[in-house]
Amino acid sequence: MPTRSGLFPRNFKKSFPIASRGEGCWIIADDGRRFLDASGQAAVVSIGHGVSEIGRAMSEQSSQIAFAHTSQFHSVQAEKLAARLLAMAPANFGSGGRVYFTSGGSEATETAIKLVRQYCLEAGRKDRYRVLSRRQSYHGSTLGAMSVSGNVARRAPYEPLLAEWGHIAPCFCYHCPFDKTFPQCELACAEDLQTQFSAGKKTDIAAFIFEPVVGATLGAAVPPEGYAARISELCRTNGILLIADEVMTGMGRTGQPFAVQHWGVEPDVILVGKGIASGYAPLGAVLVSALVVEAFERGSGAFMHGFTYQAHPVSTAAGNAVLDFLEAHKLFAQVNTAGRNLRGALVPLQSHPNVGDIRGLGLLLGVEFVKDKTTREPFAKEQNIAEKIRQACLEESVLTYPTQGGVDGLRGDHILLAPPFTISAAECALIARALQAAVAKVFSA
Ligand SMILES: Cc1ncc(COP(=O)(O)O)c(C=O)c1O
Repeated sequence: MPTRSGLFPRNFKKSFPIASRGEGCWIIADDGRRFLDASGQAAVVSIGHGVSEIGRAMSEQSSQIAFAHTSQFHSVQAEKLAARLLAMAPANFGSGGRVYFTSGGSEATETAIKLVRQYCLEAGRKDRYRVLSRRQSYHGSTLGAMSVSGNVARRAPYEPLLAEWGHIAPCFCYHCPFDKTFPQCELACAEDLQTQFSAGKKTDIAAFIFEPVVGATLGAAVPPEGYAARISELCRTNGILLIADEVMTGMGRTGQPFAVQHWGVEPDVILVGKGIASGYAPLGAVLVSALVVEAFERGSGAFMHGFTYQAHPVSTAAGNAVLDFLEAHKLFAQVNTAGRNLRGALVPLQSHPNVGDIRGLGLLLGVEFVKDKTTREPFAKEQNIAEKIRQACLEESVLTYPTQGGVDGLRGDHILLAPPFTISAAECALIARALQAAVAKVFSA
């Protein structure tokens, strides 16, 4: 690292090695150290690092034409990727759906918020604008996306700037907000959405946004059977749109192209990011179902929104090349096998007195650490357990994604594991060994 960096870092109190090369599931620093990427760099990298054909596809596109503004041109790459994404999505996107490409997940959320507002105007429902969401969720770092997020720590400094449109209870069985147990709970957390419609002002609600599996904030919390379907039903019966934020869970990460497909749910809008270009280019997407598209087509015909770099030809070329690689190497199916390998390797960890829960779907897994396994009591925030585990794993050359606050916004420690889909059984064993060493070190102190 240069002695005096010109970069504004994420954290001035940390030092960051220079990543100089990537090979499969490994990142190699300029000083030669090798790190096993157990987190896929925040659940981004799906096909692995250093796949040279992606760079070749991007270079090919950029040497043909790197950029043409979407107010004047479309590109072959964007057209092709849009058609492929719609074909992978639930049936209501297949005929008449469209894709709006962005440069990442936050822009996708921001776009969806404005899209549903304008949809309401196009559909003659001009009073509707509120996008309901859940506490303990994350939908991005821009102000609209942060307004619908419920991640306490990430919101805290910006509270005065954020709109308050209403948050319902999280769906988190390990720390149920209603102190209930599935199935006797009768999905109280889903029914919490209905209270927003029963209480006073409801004619201004436009949509509900949720992460089908809650990623960073809750450490891969998977909803119980029936949750997603009930949420979808409540949106339909109350006449609002359903937005599935699949920025983390989409593009195969959970073992289906989109996580909602595990439960046969058809949202009106699906948000994609991260894995769509596996980190090779900044890219996100808003998949818009036929119902919403038709309102624009019949109505004003123009979405009052735009980014200079939307549907960028080089980024969408990366997206197509990544999808080619996923298909050619059958990596969508590989997620389930690799997920089972990683879960299997983690089994011995489960008996540790401070490992409360190991959960997740496909290759999006979370390990939660608790002070008391019987009561599920979390550690005090000041003990910084998640960060200590990350640091101890790093000393074993394994990269993880730590988060605090899963229980009540402040307390609760977990790490997220989301390696590339190409992770081998031997690499899964390395991750498990590093975690065991980390747990032994952190909890013996
Ligand atoms: C579910 C979800 N939505 C949105 C975002 C924001 O995406 P980005 O960081 O690409 O803006 C994230 C990022 O972690 C996410 O996990």
